[in-house]
Amino acid sequence: MDVEKIRKDFPILERMVNGKKIAYLDNGATSQKPREVIDAIVRYYSEYNANVHRGVHKLSEESTVAYEDARRKIAEFINASEEEIIFVKNASEALNLVMYSYGMANVNAGDRVSISIMEHHSNFVPWQVLARRKRAKLEILDVGKEGELVGLEKASGSKIVSISHASNVLGTINDAEKICRVAHEGGGVAVIDASQSVPHMPIDVKKMDCDFLAFTGHKMLGPTGIGVLYGKKELLEKMEPFLYGGDMIIEVKKESSKWNALPYKFEAGTPNIEGAIGLGVAVDYLNKVGMEEIRKHEIELLSYAIGKLKDEVTIYGPLDARKRTGLITFNVAGVHAHDVATILDEDGVEIRSGHHCAQPLHDRLGLESSARASFYLYNTKGEVDRLVDGIKKVKRVFA
Ligand code: ALA
Repeated sequence: MDVEKIRKDFPILERMVNGKKIAYLDNGATSQKPREVIDAIVRYYSEYNANVHRGVHKLSEESTVAYEDARRKIAEFINASEEEIIFVKNASEALNLVMYSYGMANVNAGDRVSISIMEHHSNFVPWQVLARRKRAKLEILDVGKEGELVGLEKASGSKIVSISHASNVLGTINDAEKICRVAHEGGGVAVIDASQSVPHMPIDVKKMDCDFLAFTGHKMLGPTGIGVLYGKKELLEKMEPFLYGGDMIIEVKKESSKWNALPYKFEAGTPNIEGAIGLGVAVDYLNKVGMEEIRKHEIELLSYAIGKLKDEVTIYGPLDARKRTGLITFNVAGVHAHDVATILDEDGVEIRSGHHCAQPLHDRLGLESSARASFYLYNTKGEVDRLVDGIKKVKRVFA
């Protein structure tokens, strides 16, 4: 993997902040976009902008082909079939769709839904609301000393087990196959929030055997406003639509309506056409580089960063790089995470600070906030060095 060559494909990496070239280390929040993705969006609007599935004219035909071609690429990327790929706005919408369309219909008073304390709010709040509305029990699995998921076997018997594949704070990679097995053995369904894994490692939904998988496009080189829900066909077929309106119907009469086939049943209204097309091109780019290669590169960066940082800061989550996705969340003793991020920004090093939309996990760890550096295919060891230098500067400033 030629990182220097890859970097040339991302125009924003030339950007200067405070007189320094940026070291963009906030990929867990959103990734940067290669020129090919940006160009594909410009080309769509300059050459064939038209609504999809609605016109018989040339432009509509071209936009429909491009939109559906993107779906095919995404389906192949995670080893699903096209009718199992539903375009949504983001992972939050994907998880809300499952909660409303599957959860509301299948969870009853006294049932149990299992999540974990490491969930992002998008995979926490919907289940909290479902449990309250249905008078079901919300079971929250804990984490151990190394940030590992503990007590998974307790989730057996839950109607829904919804857990992240990789934590956006701890970095922990959970055993998604095991989560699905436990859910199924107890007669439930498994929902995997793959927002922090699909961009960083090869994913095969058949091998994983998840019932639903949610992820977002903007963390994997695609545009914002486009996300994906994968669902097993036999489940999606039985579910009621989440949103009603245009394109999701096959027939509308005064008294009642009939729903469209999969996946259109779940795509009401004009979709994010340029988002889907851009995401399809992002997937082409990731395939060209190779997901195995990206994973290897991130493990290398993680090992290097953990080695340099472990005596400087408190790192949360596993210290073995192979057990975590490409991010490191940490705190500098006695310094607020926002101050850490502000001082790093003075030198163009961009990281995230705060609770990272994971307040229950921060409460569990006894933290108000934390700082997070998150890597991707274009990051270098030189940028990790700049992160480490910045942290040393923070310590000098606050000494
Ligand atoms: N969910 C994104 C993050 O973890 C925004 O930063």
